[in-house]
Amino acid sequence: MRKTVYVGVLISSLGLLISIAACQAPLPAPPAEAPDPVQPHYAPTATIKELMLSIVDPSADVVWLSVTTVQSSAGTVDTAPKNDEEWQKVRQGAVALTEAANLLMMPGRHVARPGEKSETPGVELEPSEMEELINKDPASWQMRAMNLHDAGVAVLQAIDARDSQKVFEIGEQIEVACESCHRQYWYPNEQIPEIPASPTSTQ
Ligand code: HEC
Repeated sequence: MRKTVYVGVLISSLGLLISIAACQAPLPAPPAEAPDPVQPHYAPTATIKELMLSIVDPSADVVWLSVTTVQSSAGTVDTAPKNDEEWQKVRQGAVALTEAANLLMMPGRHVARPGEKSETPGVELEPSEMEELINKDPASWQMRAMNLHDAGVAVLQAIDARDSQKVFEIGEQIEVACESCHRQYWYPNEQIPEIPASPTSTQ
């Protein structure tokens, strides 16, 4: 009786072994050039410089210029979106700015066109140097682009709440996101003069 059971177990283990072996048979290698159907296929066409000039900068301006306070001898003039149409325009800028951050995160995008050179060598890095910095630590680049994205999301919420004061305040957060990336990759060698301490703030 015991013997039969043993044989039975042996046979079924053998079956299991065979089926495991079948499962582990190597899959045929995909043809080298075949595109992976699961991965999205990006075609990053514009350079980072072009994204800055065509989308990031103009869209940030739409947000920044929507709420302003101008002081002059004639007094203070506050501007803020006044109606749905004006709010809609600011929102369009904020959407473009937020999504531009994703465009910056796309792999495989060049900083500038081949042969393009820095306009102020020594202060600005050359595009090839910036690209090297980005590729050396992609997570750090992504994090800076994500900060811009998050500032965009915050400003969208303020726009949807029709809160112009908040839009103004988050404008600052957007600027910090721009600058912290520029200081890291674009002009890391720039010397920022220390603000001289005023005589009353020595403590
Ligand atoms: C994740 C990084 C990153 C963020 C965030 C970022 N930038 Fe840039 N930006 C760059 C880099 C890198 C360059 C240099 C590219 C070049 O000019 O070759 C640049 C260049 C620029 C330029 C100059 C383009 C030229 O060469 O004429 C402008 C203008 C600009 N950025 C505006 C902005 C503004 C406004 C924001 C925020 C709303 C912003 N950027 C956010 C990385 C960033």
